Amino acid sequence: MLNQTVKTLAGFVVSAGLFSGAAFAGGHGAQAEVLHWWTSGGEAAALKVLKDDFAKNGGEWKDMPVAGGGGDAAMQTLKARVVAGDPPTAAQIKGPSIQAWDDEGVVGPPYHVDEVAKAENWDSLLSSQVANHMKCDGFTKYCAAPVNIHRIDWFWANKKVLDANGISMPTSWDEFNAAARKLQSAGIIPLAHGSQPWQDATVFEAVALGIGGNDFYKKVFVDADMSAMNSPTMIKVFDQMRTLKGFTDEGSPGRDWNVATGMVMEGKAAFQIMGDWAKGEFTNAGMKPGIDFYCLPTPSDHGYLYNVDSFIFYSMDGQSKIKGQKLLGSLMMGKNFQKVFNLYKGSIPARLDVPMDEFDMCAKGSASDLNYSAMTGGLQPSFAHGMTLSLATKGAIQDVVTEHFNSNMSSKEAAKRMADAVQDTL
Ligand code: BGC
Repeated sequence: MLNQTVKTLAGFVVSAGLFSGAAFAGGHGAQAEVLHWWTSGGEAAALKVLKDDFAKNGGEWKDMPVAGGGGDAAMQTLKARVVAGDPPTAAQIKGPSIQAWDDEGVVGPPYHVDEVAKAENWDSLLSSQVANHMKCDGFTKYCAAPVNIHRIDWFWANKKVLDANGISMPTSWDEFNAAARKLQSAGIIPLAHGSQPWQDATVFEAVALGIGGNDFYKKVFVDADMSAMNSPTMIKVFDQMRTLKGFTDEGSPGRDWNVATGMVMEGKAAFQIMGDWAKGEFTNAGMKPGIDFYCLPTPSDHGYLYNVDSFIFYSMDGQSKIKGQKLLGSLMMGKNFQKVFNLYKGSIPARLDVPMDEFDMCAKGSASDLNYSAMTGGLQPSFAHGMTLSLATKGAIQDVVTEHFNSNMSSKEAAKRMADAVQDTL
């Protein structure tokens, strides 16, 4: 499990700061075309920190945004570029897809960013679990750099709306259902949701973690265990999804996630279930946790669904681009960058040695929950955000989840279809 069990964010002493990008700064002539899907207000504000740092160090940034939450559209564009033999200098990508690209022979050798990682001793700055997600060549060389850790399983809520209706943040799914019914009869949309496949999957994995528990989550989303998929527990998970569907409004299908967050900010809706990039939207609008909005993990047995944003560096010709990759890698892992970027992004630093004192209560809670769940078996990779399973298996599960959510399919049928669809991808 995660090395963070011992290397706590608070207590872990490292030689960080000695390097902090110094070795690879001064990137005159460095160029980078950067593919990403950070186009919402909060996301763009966070990305600007990196763009500015790159420019300050003499780099020339070419922006390649591909809009679409969760990155499904960005991954299609990326695939087309790589297959055409023209990969971007750096691309936002996560989880096992990094190693899958390496298996195609398009990432290295040589793995240029590994030089930076060795010189800056990234192994000592990251938990081994996060570090491994960044490594190619049989997990021996860095080919990607992490910028954060997002948590997926969150409730976000409008404080005024909850207070006015005498509702406190729910600590069980039954409590949530009761609160939602109360809000609904008061004429408030209980759950702001954008029914796009990745958003349905985001809600689904939080429900699966909560209702099924940590072991069930692992069996389904890490081990792709058929009997856990087609099981009475999975039927209960789908039942709760059906219940949640009843708490959404008619405008939900196709709505972007940040529009849904906006509904909570304005008080049109009470809750959203979404990763903590949603917090980036609240804070970008000047709203504060505990004062304007509430954050609380969705109910589970100390589970924590993690999602590490990272950038892959493909094999590249041309000194200016290689310089660009090295500079980007070094900047992304900079101690101050990881603080400032994550203050905007809503996530917490991937580096273990970044002080949390300037972070808000949601981020502080996330950091301490992460450590606790890493010790107790609750720390699990997000399937909806590509931290586990192959893209094909992920897609098969996501398709069934979204079809169930947007039809009258029974829970029993959905569980069976999921197992069948996954079987075809293994
Ligand atoms: C990414 C986040 C991003 C979110 C919405 C997630 O998959 O990890 O960085 O903000 O999608 O686009």
